[in-house]
Amino acid sequence: MLVKAHAKINLALDVLGTRPDGYHELETIMQTLELHDELEITTAPDITLAVQGADLPAGPENLAYRAAALLRERAEYAGGAEIRLVKRIPLAAGLAGGSADAAAVLRGLNKLWHLGLGPAELAALGAEIGSDVPFCLYGGTALVRGRGEAVTPLRDLPPLGVVLVKPPFGVSTAEVYRRYDALVNPPQPGCRRMLAAAKRGDAADLAACLVNSLEPVTMSLHPVIGAIKRELSAAGALGVLMSGSGPTVFGLFKSRASAERAAGMIRQEDCWVTATCFHGAGRE
Ligand code: C5P
Repeated sequence: MLVKAHAKINLALDVLGTRPDGYHELETIMQTLELHDELEITTAPDITLAVQGADLPAGPENLAYRAAALLRERAEYAGGAEIRLVKRIPLAAGLAGGSADAAAVLRGLNKLWHLGLGPAELAALGAEIGSDVPFCLYGGTALVRGRGEAVTPLRDLPPLGVVLVKPPFGVSTAEVYRRYDALVNPPQPGCRRMLAAAKRGDAADLAACLVNSLEPVTMSLHPVIGAIKRELSAAGALGVLMSGSGPTVFGLFKSRASAERAAGMIRQEDCWVTATCFHGAGRE
């Protein structure tokens, strides 16, 4: 069985406070991208994982492996699966690559093993693996609250073009949140405005409402993020923002074709640059 694991960006992200469990209470609007990893999953006596395209562990440290092991344990399934993962989404980038792989494994194995789990049951398991996994199970556009487990799907947005630019380093999400807690003047929330723009679905409106509370934190650690934002704007982006805890920056464009033209204009040395577009929930 072939399964796609799509990357995500955050169109808006507000940190509302800290929780007793040490995580942060969020309100964020997430959007699936066409950019994806690919997984080939077949039944086998044990769980095995092979990774192509990235230097990633293939054991329990890998979220894809962990998803398979957790599902097998909870469903008390006797068999296993051979998982071959082809990575295209960069790691530690703010694009939920690991969470997307875990979600794809949960969806794929639920079918392959004939477990019959519903979306809510899969999302509850996913939340144990990582905060972004529940959203990755739904895909499309969604308002996401809590630690990441409360997902409200929204109507699909038009297939806007996206240029992604990732500097040649990853960031630790935990460290970004720790530094956020030390901010004296945390940024103003903006998710509600984005929610209204998402309901209207107008590209210029969406671009004008992009907001991410974590952006100033990661940008102070890595000022190159500011330079990338300026370059994407100069290349004609309707709006630019850092995704999640970073460091990937995205620019929105009216179409995939205009995103592809703009991607060719980016001159940031050592950065990973690609053009993609919004991906709706119904499309595989
Ligand atoms: O859940 P996940 O492993 O993806 O989160 C990585 C880290 O990001 C957590 O250990 C936590 O420090 C931080 N985090 C948070 N609040 C969230 C999501 C993540 O503090 N809602």
